Amino acid sequence: MSYQNLLLTDADSVRTITINRPDQLNALNRATIAELNKALTEAEADKSIRVVVITGSGAKAFVAGADIKEFAHFSVPEGKALAADGQKQLFDHVEHLNKPVIAAVNGFALGGGLELAMSAHVRIASDNAKMGLPETSLGVIPGYGGTQRLPRLVGKGKAMEMILSAQMIDANDALQWGLVNRVVPQDQLLSTVHELAVRIMKNSPTALAAAIRAVNAGYEPGANGLQREIEEFGKCFGTADFKEGTTAFVEKRKANFTGA
Ligand code: COA
Repeated sequence: MSYQNLLLTDADSVRTITINRPDQLNALNRATIAELNKALTEAEADKSIRVVVITGSGAKAFVAGADIKEFAHFSVPEGKALAADGQKQLFDHVEHLNKPVIAAVNGFALGGGLELAMSAHVRIASDNAKMGLPETSLGVIPGYGGTQRLPRLVGKGKAMEMILSAQMIDANDALQWGLVNRVVPQDQLLSTVHELAVRIMKNSPTALAAAIRAVNAGYEPGANGLQREIEEFGKCFGTADFKEGTTAFVEKRKANFTGA
């Protein structure tokens, strides 16, 4: 399928989804969110794809937020629907994807842009990246999961500071605060992310999906994360990947996982 606002490239079973509205600093309008939803569904269903990378087009921005020009005149019900639809179509979708998602944060990650990066399973940033949740400076609050996912990553105190001050932090502070996993020079960002993706995809796709479900369960209200871990752990024993992984270990060879 063709996309107006996205570029898709495949290499070594890694699908890179590039948000491609550079003249608007890759701001997330509704059309782009709908396209991301489709692209993620496609990547999820495609067995040849093992890891998904999300990044922004150009050297300046990952994503500078939700498209302010699009929602500036929304009513109360429209505002509520914007957050609910966006969370379902994109942010929860990324977090619960059945394969690992890495955010390659190549510049400004503000508002919905930081919320998108936070939905991913791993974040690697370029040294020019700036991150923040500036919504309160616009008279609104983060609506794409930011009030929940930021405290989980950096703790309540730092999250409150970022949300209440609406200020950006640089890549090194983001690294120190645990908001990103690594910081690299911008010209090495995509190669570093690719190396990590290739490292991850050596592992069993069924185990990766189970690990994502188990980790996520610890953050679901009312879910018992440890119980979910027991269930997911047990289910692994019924997979061909588990037989292959353990057999390969005993036979002192590399495992050849099929994702079954
Ligand atoms: N929504 C819509 N358009 C956006 C946008 C957003 N979140 N962020 C940037 N843009 C647009 C600008 O309006 C401008 O478009 P124009 O040339 O048609 O006027 C273009 O992208 C370039 O942005 P500009 O502001 O000129 O770049 P800058 O280098 O001076 O500033 C930022 C960069 C990121 C600091 C600034 O664009 C900004 O503050 N953006 C909004 C961030 C935000 O509040 N995000 C949260 C939204 S909830």
